[in-house]
Amino acid sequence: MEKLMIAGGYPLNGTVRISGAKNSAVALIPATILAESPVKIEGLPDISDVQILKDLLEEIGGTVEFSENDMTVDPSSMISMPLPNGKVKKLRASYYLMGAMLGRFKKAVIGLPGGCHLGPRPIDQHIKGFEALGARVTNEQGAIYLRADELRGARIYLDVVSVGATINIMLAAVRAKGRTIIENAAKEPEIIDVATLLTNMGAKIKGAGTDVIRIDGVDHLHGCQHTIIPDRIEAGTYMIVGAAAGEGVLIDNVIPHHLESLIAKLREMGVQIEANDDQVFVGPAEKMKAVDIKTLVYPGFPTDLQQPLTSLLTGAEGTSMVTDTIYSARFKHIDELRRMNANIKVEGRSAIINGPVQLQGAKVKASDLRAGAALVIAGLMAEGVTEVTGLEHIDRGYSHLVEKLNGLGATIWREEMSKEEMEQMKNA
Ligand code: EPU
Repeated sequence: MEKLMIAGGYPLNGTVRISGAKNSAVALIPATILAESPVKIEGLPDISDVQILKDLLEEIGGTVEFSENDMTVDPSSMISMPLPNGKVKKLRASYYLMGAMLGRFKKAVIGLPGGCHLGPRPIDQHIKGFEALGARVTNEQGAIYLRADELRGARIYLDVVSVGATINIMLAAVRAKGRTIIENAAKEPEIIDVATLLTNMGAKIKGAGTDVIRIDGVDHLHGCQHTIIPDRIEAGTYMIVGAAAGEGVLIDNVIPHHLESLIAKLREMGVQIEANDDQVFVGPAEKMKAVDIKTLVYPGFPTDLQQPLTSLLTGAEGTSMVTDTIYSARFKHIDELRRMNANIKVEGRSAIINGPVQLQGAKVKASDLRAGAALVIAGLMAEGVTEVTGLEHIDRGYSHLVEKLNGLGATIWREEMSKEEMEQMKNA
């Protein structure tokens, strides 16, 4: 097992290229199940979640070729193999196999998903949607069993705005008979990306990216070619890296419109930002000011950037308050930042950050993906060396993180953990 070593304090500059969006990729790959001929997805990120989904498609009989970020899936010989255990448990997004397999085979057995622990993450709205389309859904010993004689379009109002439920219902509804209307749908760019792929496959979808999506079911979906959108959360992370330790960092292959809330907040902090069609330049701030942030559904401030931004705020003058309205327990990075000398307390759903402080290198543990990103940013800002364990979380979502940061002039490397360190981690 490896840990990440970061020698802080090196000024960063240069260009970093953003990979394809993780949260699109994990839905686009299962969506290929719905086609009857090969689908090619271009520009996928090189992350472990993508690799696991590739393995799962092969487990159910798909033929998958994956090289240089492009994946071609031939779904023609797939079968509705039950997947109650094993790799499905390793990632949250394995729930998209439910919608896709239900759409194609009218039945599926999928183990309840894993993923980051951010407080309760129910999937009741996904299930409500599948039931409205005519599926019988039961939970047996930690696996969800779905079965339908036929899927029929329905009007579904989501009680909670959910990215996962919106996409999952879309996946099943494209092969239902008649019209489905999803009301109070999520509007994230990843939903538009999935709808674009499905439309290229022959689906009839209107309104993706608004809160009402209309889907007219079709009998057949065919193969196609699709290029994934850039990862707005990875781009946002590097924008924060640029603000935290940069002398001028250019983020390439980004859709600035997807990041308006972060751009506005960084500018409010005093960070120089210039954006054009597909690039964002982050210049240094003379002196960063404290700001308050509340995470909201898109286009509000994304919960996925709340943790990375908290690290940056430790260097800002004054008191900042970060409130997460999406997840109740996305604050596991705070104790680790405190080990690095941050002055932060958590009150309910808010973190209160007093700055500026000079962070100090320490041994810290990433509890989840974005906590890992937050600790890497803190390590770049800190004096001395920071050791980050829990690297498997970071590898789930950041493609070539070490190479990209070293390309900007950081001093960061992976190191094999000693037996004693592994033992200590197990007992912690
Ligand atoms: N929720 C319900 N019932 C449901 C579904 C969701 O109560 O049936 C609640 C959740 O508990 C949460 C809120 O609704 O409080 C929003 O959840 P949503 O379903 O939108 O989240 P998700 O689909 O599980 C995706 C991303 C997350 C990201 C959220 C919010 C993927 C694979 N994951 O999760 O990404 O935080 O949307 O934008 O797309 C990450 O990338 O680090 C990450 C966790």
